[in-house]
Amino acid sequence: MKKAGRVVALVFEGIKDKIVPGISTQDIADMCEKIIRENGATPTFLNYYGYPGAVCVSVNDELVHGIPSPRRILRDGDIVSVDVGATLNGYVGDACRTYPVGICSEKALRLIKVTEESFFEGVKHARPGAHLGDVSHAIQEYCESHGYSLPREYTGHGVGSSLHEDPYIPNYGPAGSGPVLKEGMTLAIEPMVAEGHFAVRVLKDGWTAKMKDGKLSSHYENSIVITKDGYEILTKI
Ligand code: MF3
Ligand code: CO
Repeated sequence: MKKAGRVVALVFEGIKDKIVPGISTQDIADMCEKIIRENGATPTFLNYYGYPGAVCVSVNDELVHGIPSPRRILRDGDIVSVDVGATLNGYVGDACRTYPVGICSEKALRLIKVTEESFFEGVKHARPGAHLGDVSHAIQEYCESHGYSLPREYTGHGVGSSLHEDPYIPNYGPAGSGPVLKEGMTLAIEPMVAEGHFAVRVLKDGWTAKMKDGKLSSHYENSIVITKDGYEILTKI
């Protein structure tokens, strides 16, 4: 899991300075795929339930699962989420970052920042004996206290030899609910945060989930392992 997670982290290291106005979402996917394969891994999402991209690239009001396209050119002021899965030796690493493209508005940068911070607010509660709902609840509280909302249809998940394993990990819900965490569990915690209302619709491509109100959305994810006294992030170097 650590080795697979490291490949995902290397992808973000490799692309972070290359997300500039004028590139396409396909260019981003190609850069990611190259780094994944150079490190002996395979792109987990490619052909997953028929998903056609190596990674997911979602722009502005697209919440998740945007399909890379050479026609989708990024412009100054866009924000773009890059969701990366890498499979290595049968194990999966899964993480996402949202990047500003060129010069972005303060409100877009704030959304990105709060989304990332909410992950860390959530995992503060990740330790043996805690309830999964403690993590979910902290993410919800933090985001809602900043005026944002949490889409209901998409959640974090267990991750291991498959991309999606039990349990589902909602980004909302009561503290003290859900399964009790144990040492060795590997989980993908992924706040997906909406600037406006949380309602989402899926486009005709069958994948792209877009905010119904057309407002911005942001996504931040890491795969973690529950340790003896807390957690460790697997998708970082
Ligand atoms: N990180 C995303 C998730 O956990 C990636 C899945 S994209 C898919 O749902 F195309 F592979 F489904
Ligand atoms: Co995930």
